[in-house]
Amino acid sequence: MLQPKKITCVVGARPNFMKVAPVVLALKARGLNVRLVHTGQHYDARMSAVFFDDLGMPRPDAFLEVGSATHAVQTARVLERFDADCTEFQPELVLVAGDVNSTIACAMVAAKRGIAVGHIEAGLRSRDWAMPEEINRILTDNCSDLLLTPSADGDENLRAEGVPEWRIHRVGNLMIDSLRRHLERALTLKMPETLGLEPGGYVVVTLHRPSNVDVPEQLEALLAAIGEVSERMPVVFPIHPRTRARIADANITVAEGVRLVEPLGYLQFLGLMAQCKIMLTDSGGIQEETTALGVPCLTLRDNTERPITVDEGTNTLLGAVAARVVPAVDEIVRTGGKQGRIPDLWDGKSAERVADLVCGGFRTMLGG
Ligand code: UD1
Repeated sequence: MLQPKKITCVVGARPNFMKVAPVVLALKARGLNVRLVHTGQHYDARMSAVFFDDLGMPRPDAFLEVGSATHAVQTARVLERFDADCTEFQPELVLVAGDVNSTIACAMVAAKRGIAVGHIEAGLRSRDWAMPEEINRILTDNCSDLLLTPSADGDENLRAEGVPEWRIHRVGNLMIDSLRRHLERALTLKMPETLGLEPGGYVVVTLHRPSNVDVPEQLEALLAAIGEVSERMPVVFPIHPRTRARIADANITVAEGVRLVEPLGYLQFLGLMAQCKIMLTDSGGIQEETTALGVPCLTLRDNTERPITVDEGTNTLLGAVAARVVPAVDEIVRTGGKQGRIPDLWDGKSAERVADLVCGGFRTMLGG
């Protein structure tokens, strides 16, 4: 059994921060020696720094500054720089989260060095090998001693791949720990009012998946549909830098009614999302956050690695089909949309379960 006292937690890109913050705080509260490493995959203040303040997360102890590049180059930079960081700190456990390039890179470094790896959000599968995140998820799970799953479907996916039971630990959804902890504060920002919107009377859009934004015809068709939605209800679109760049490259005109705003901080976005009528997105995490908030979500993808949000929550998988957007919005306006329920263990206590596991000791693949 390993009972690690020195633990490195890794963040790299925006969706990592809200999953790792509660774990860092819970492990520190138990008196463990926790090092926080930021790979720098996301580096714009609005994609990164603002989250540390919003989530009450300590500043990173190391910043690897890998920046943007091709997947291979970005991953390679993390491999080299994180390896050096492990030489310096000598952690006994490395905790990574989600499915971004920084996640697989750090998991691989640790596994090759014989350091135990814990994967937050293990077991999710979209079964879409064209998604870079699917490759990252599967490879990270394969390197991980502790597979920290958010829901029962994650456990089942891992079992079906032949993973032994002792590696699978259902801890629940860490992103929802952050949501529950910060929702009240987010609502005090009065985001809708700040943007001149009526609570419950607007649509929020986010789009950044390569499959939606890197193909100009697809991006143009989706933006045209979103433009049509804005004729029915105000639309706010906090825009990812990648998407903004693609719109400019392809010279696409966005309808006047669609309000493009800079990427928002965690609290601002949570405040805006919690009070919208409909969320329109291709994000992974937002499918879960809307389920936790009871807000109807239309997901502009052909598949999801988070099917529980469809089966139990408020999510509808619309497909990446522009023509379905307006009819789906009209239907929610007519019916109020899916009610849904909150999945088991999305209770705000997941980080405590991770801390219990780490402090109690666990079996590793090296037989420790
Ligand atoms: C990454 C993750 C994706 C996650 C998303 C959330 C991978 C494979 N993808 O995608 O799973 O949903 O983050 O945002 O890891 N850029 C900036 N400033 C930044 C970061 C990026 O301008 O701070 C621009 C750059 O032009 C860059 C592009 O966005 O080339 C893409 O960034 P990158 O981190 O490579 O991937 P994301 O699309 O953000």
